[in-house]
Amino acid sequence: MNSGKVCFVGGGPGDPELLTLRAHRVISQADVIIYTGSLLDQGLFANARADAELHDSAGLHLEQLVELMVSGARSGKLVARVHSGDPSVFGAIHEQMVELERAGVPYEIIPGVCSAFAAAAVLGHELTVPEMAQTVILTRAEGRTPMPSGQRLRELADHRATLAIFLSATLIERVVEELSAGYGRETPVAVVANATQPGQRIVRGTLEDIAAKSTAAGIRAQAMILVGDTLDPAIKQRAGERKSRLYDPQFSHGFRKRASARAKEAGAQKPGEVTP
Ligand SMILES: C[S@@+](CC[C@H](N)C(=O)[O-])C[C@H]1O[C@@H](n2cnc3c(N)ncnc32)[C@H](O)[C@@H]1O
Repeated sequence: MNSGKVCFVGGGPGDPELLTLRAHRVISQADVIIYTGSLLDQGLFANARADAELHDSAGLHLEQLVELMVSGARSGKLVARVHSGDPSVFGAIHEQMVELERAGVPYEIIPGVCSAFAAAAVLGHELTVPEMAQTVILTRAEGRTPMPSGQRLRELADHRATLAIFLSATLIERVVEELSAGYGRETPVAVVANATQPGQRIVRGTLEDIAAKSTAAGIRAQAMILVGDTLDPAIKQRAGERKSRLYDPQFSHGFRKRASARAKEAGAQKPGEVTP
């Protein structure tokens, strides 16, 4: 029998091969699996025990969700609370953890592949390109959840960082309007719906035309909006010279000496000595 606890599991962006080994193990051992049915396919639970209880959290409110977790853990069960992507980003786990702590129920968090990074991967982009963007902001457009002061898209636009905008596919016109002043209408934007899933779709454009293109493509849910110069489809041709210091032969760090220092050392070596 499992000893009772709750695991918040990062279910990743959808492709079961993007589950971590630990997430896979916990899902296979869980007595109770509560998953975000609006975002996760049941295929992720193909390795669950035949007698595991499965609950879709979509129809539950917080009190019911907490009751399921607390009663399961108190009766010695392992409860896997599976969220899409990484649970720490727009996962609403804060309020769940508060309730578990109140109830004295132990829990742990297993990270997952966040949809922002899954979207960057399927697009084939790095979100931080030297001298272009060294900051990534994970955010959303203001909807029913109000944005704290200083964090509206209009205000974030001043940074010209790469933006990963969650939960905002239906608000794309507002996204464009708020960002245009800070970024300029020619700024590249990519919208990735259902990244890594069989229904994956990619729409590319600029702040000028992305709202029309995304709407015409019928993208309304489970989509990541990535904005910034790093999303330029031609970036590898246009900015191929922008190299990081990490692999620069003239740049030393804790794990590698600079090329000139290595050459000097090699010159000082006795014949037959091997440099690792
Ligand atoms: C409730 S939030 C959960 C985010 C999740 N915790 C993460 O790390 O990706 C749901 C939003 O995440 C994004 N999202 C989740 N899965 C996605 C996917 N497979 N492709 C594109 N966007 C996704 C969408 O913006 C969606 O509206």
